Parts: sequence; structure tokens; C-alpha cells
Amino acid sequence: MSLIGRHLLSIDSLNRAELEELLAIAKRLEPVAKRQMRCDVLQGAVLANLFFEASTRTRMSFHTAFARLGGAVVDTTGFTFSSLSKGESLEDTARVIAGYADIIAMRHPEEGSVAQFAAPINVPVINAGDGAGEHPSQALLDYYSISKEFERLDKSIDGMSIAMVGDLKHGRTIHSLCKLLSLFNNIKFRFIAPDNLRAPASLIALLKTRGHEVSECDSLAAGLPHSDVIYATRIQRERIQGGEEMEGYGEQFRINAAAITRHAQPDTVIMHPLPRDSREGAFDLATDLDRLPQLAIFRQADNGVIMRMAIFAAILGVADRLEAHFAPLTLYRPARLSDHDADFYTFD
Ligand code: NCD
Repeated sequence: MSLIGRHLLSIDSLNRAELEELLAIAKRLEPVAKRQMRCDVLQGAVLANLFFEASTRTRMSFHTAFARLGGAVVDTTGFTFSSLSKGESLEDTARVIAGYADIIAMRHPEEGSVAQFAAPINVPVINAGDGAGEHPSQALLDYYSISKEFERLDKSIDGMSIAMVGDLKHGRTIHSLCKLLSLFNNIKFRFIAPDNLRAPASLIALLKTRGHEVSECDSLAAGLPHSDVIYATRIQRERIQGGEEMEGYGEQFRINAAAITRHAQPDTVIMHPLPRDSREGAFDLATDLDRLPQLAIFRQADNGVIMRMAIFAAILGVADRLEAHFAPLTLYRPARLSDHDADFYTFD
């Protein structure tokens, strides 16, 4: 089925053929993402970017993706500057913004709120994160990232093993990525978290129903070995009242160079949706990994733009005429984005 005109609220609405379609569109957009070509296929279109919760990457990469395809972006950030603070319902706000924009990306702290917003309108809405619910465009860019890393390593997603570490309970990127990978075959999911932050039972049941192997443990030594991908996440402190659920989370869950040397292979891809929490006592992904070539976190963040361009192209029905809108882009462009990136990752 075509993605044209559809909301993207949950990975539940996608099948494997549609994932592959989005991947193929993203690959065609690589020259635009690498800034060798410009593209104006969305000239005249408007994106409304509505972010009622903190965001750097998601908000800016939606904006950048739309701008790189020639479209214009209008946005609002936080409740303070929106009429929701005057008591307006999500439904009324949705009806109004549907009159202004051709597509809407929305992030909101309450689970289910983006679906509620999207329900009364026909203008397509992309869920950019609804509380602890889902974050489908992140899962899609993670999928693109895994595919790219696996191309280099000559591995396939079917049959892969992924270790997920951290706040598996509130982490919406975890929820969406698990659902996405469940559309492939024979995935081995290893969930590493203390008891209070375990993945939702309904998610584990879904993965098992689809024939995947799921194991849960509370130590890196048990969960990391033989994984093709390690996906670390931040403890979602903003969703944890009182802090009691963080009990049991500490240094023993921290992915750092010593843990990788001890428990993983040199070709295990290390991912994280970012931001990583660098504060003392957060025990998030350590910076002593930063020079390792298998650390994919910044390549992963870069991929937010290409996958979001693909999503816009698919939903707005312009995927069949991208190349016709390409023209060379001749700006100054550094050969590499950063000296910290692995040698195999060049800008060109
Ligand atoms: C994530 C999010 O907002 O869910 N960040 C992102 O979109 N890249 C992860 C997080 O905030 O921990």
C-alpha cells in the first residue's frame, strides 16, 4: 500500500514492504544528504513543526530535511508560546494548523496525544515522540543506520542479534525500534535493565508472538556477548516521578570501552538515539568510546535528515520525481564532518 497521505503515528501502521520502500527512497536521496545535489521537489509546501517537549535532533532534522527538499517550515516550541496554554484542545489546534500546513510533525509529553491530535484531520501527522509511547521516525532512521553499517560489515538484519540497554520501560525509541525489527525474521533481542526499567510485557509478548527470541537480564556480561548491535539509551528522568524506578540502575549498566573490550566483538555496532546524559551519576554511554570506529552514534544522528526526507517524499507523493528536481550544489563542503569520525565515514 502507498504511504501517500497517511499519518505516521506508530510503527504498527507499516509493513516490511513499506520499510523497504522508505529505505530505497532514502538511498536515492543520498546525494542531497551529502550536499552534492540540491532538490526543490517540495517547493511551495509547508511543514508545521510542533514541539511541546525538549528536542534538538528531531526538531532540527525534520526542519533540515524539509528545507533540503525545497519546502518551508513554520514551528512552535513549548506550551508557553502556543494556544494550548490558553486551554485550547488538541483537536481545535489540529484543525487550525491543518489549514496552514501540508504536513505536521508533532512531539508531546503524553502518550497517545499525537494520535488524538491527528484523529480529526486529513493533513498527515508524523509522531515525533508521544511521551513514553513511540517515535517511529527515529526507528526508521535507526533502521537506515543499521542497514548502512551492515552493508559495510556484510551482515543482514534477518537473524541479527541486538542488545538493548538502559531505560527500556520509558524509552519510546526502544518501543518503536523493537516493533520495526519484529517485521524481520529471527531477531535475537537481549534486554539489559534493572527490574524497574524492564521493557513493557506487552512488547515482549508481541516479539515472541512474531517468532523472535527474547531474553532479559540485568548484567552486561550476560547480555552483550555475540550481539551485532548494542543500542544504549538514556534514563528518561523526566518520566520518572520520585526516582524510585531508578533504583538498581548504576555503573554496572554503563557501556564504556572496558565493557566493549570485555563483552563485545570489534565489529559490534554501538548505537544510541542521543542525547547521551553526560552528567555525573547518569551512567549513560561513556565518552571513552568516542574514537572507536564501531561507535555509530553521530552517523546515526546524521541519518535523521536523509530518512526524514524519505518520509516526507513518500507521504507527500513526490517520491517518483525526486531526481528530476536535482541540481548540483556547489557550496564549500569539508571532506569530513569531524576528525572524530571513523576513516570509512567521509562526507563525499
Ligand atoms: C530520544 C527521544 O526524544 O525519545 N531522542 C531523540 O529523539 N533522538 C531519546 C531520548 O530523549 O532519550
